[in-house]
Amino acid sequence: MQLSLSLPRHAGVCMLLLVSTLTLWEHVASKPSGPLSMEALYNRVVEHSHTTFVLASDIYREFNLNFFKRSWFTDRPLSVCHTASISTPESREEVHGTKTEDLLKAIINITHAWEEPLKYLVSSVPTLPGASDNMLKTATAVKDRNHILLEGLETILNRTQVEYEEDSYPDWSGVSDLQSSDEETRLFTFFNLCRCLKRDTHKVDTFLKVLRCRVAYNNECIFYQ
Ligand SMILES: *[C@@H]1O[C@H](CO)[C@@H](O)[C@H](O)[C@H]1NC(C)=O
Ligand SMILES: *[C@@H]1O[C@H](CO)[C@@H](O)[C@H](O)[C@H]1NC(C)=O
Repeated sequence: MQLSLSLPRHAGVCMLLLVSTLTLWEHVASKPSGPLSMEALYNRVVEHSHTTFVLASDIYREFNLNFFKRSWFTDRPLSVCHTASISTPESREEVHGTKTEDLLKAIINITHAWEEPLKYLVSSVPTLPGASDNMLKTATAVKDRNHILLEGLETILNRTQVEYEEDSYPDWSGVSDLQSSDEETRLFTFFNLCRCLKRDTHKVDTFLKVLRCRVAYNNECIFYQ
């Protein structure tokens, strides 16, 4: 079977979009009076993290509706998400006990670690038997949002003046399985990828809402979360 893993036709438009985002965070969106306030930056990243999570949930739901097989759970081990090694707080108390910069670094690590897998996710949607155009659009939107979110997060981290090494990020090793000629393998890999994506985008969104509350609203925003 011929797998089409080339870039989608509208990739040019996406590139254009991505090129302009850095400017978006620091300049275009800023008021004439100066750069965006920390509060405004947090509001923006939360807007993006929330949308990313909603889109990721959409893909997961659409995939399950059309391709999910119950037998996967008896026949195959669920793989550990590639971001599992990034340590993040588990409980609400732990989240609140984590320093802002540490939480921010973990969020950036997770978001960075999704850059590559999301490209593969987008290019593999057309290999799913009967996947809708909508699913491709949604996958592309998640990839683009994730990238914009990453730049927003880096802008925030830059402002906090903490030392940050452009270190390594966990690799995703599912490429060959996602491109496998065996359809079951491909579907199952796609399933795991969507499952992890939904989980991680939810985590990132939740943590960012806590940080926004802490940094921008002095922790007085029970109704925000
Ligand atoms: C991201 O997390 C991994 C796994 O814990 C770690 O090895 C790596 O150094 C982290 N990268 C950054 C930039 O913090
Ligand atoms: C963060 O700061 C570094 C060093 O000053 C710069 O190279 C990088 O472009 C900045 N990133 C963002 C997203 O502002």
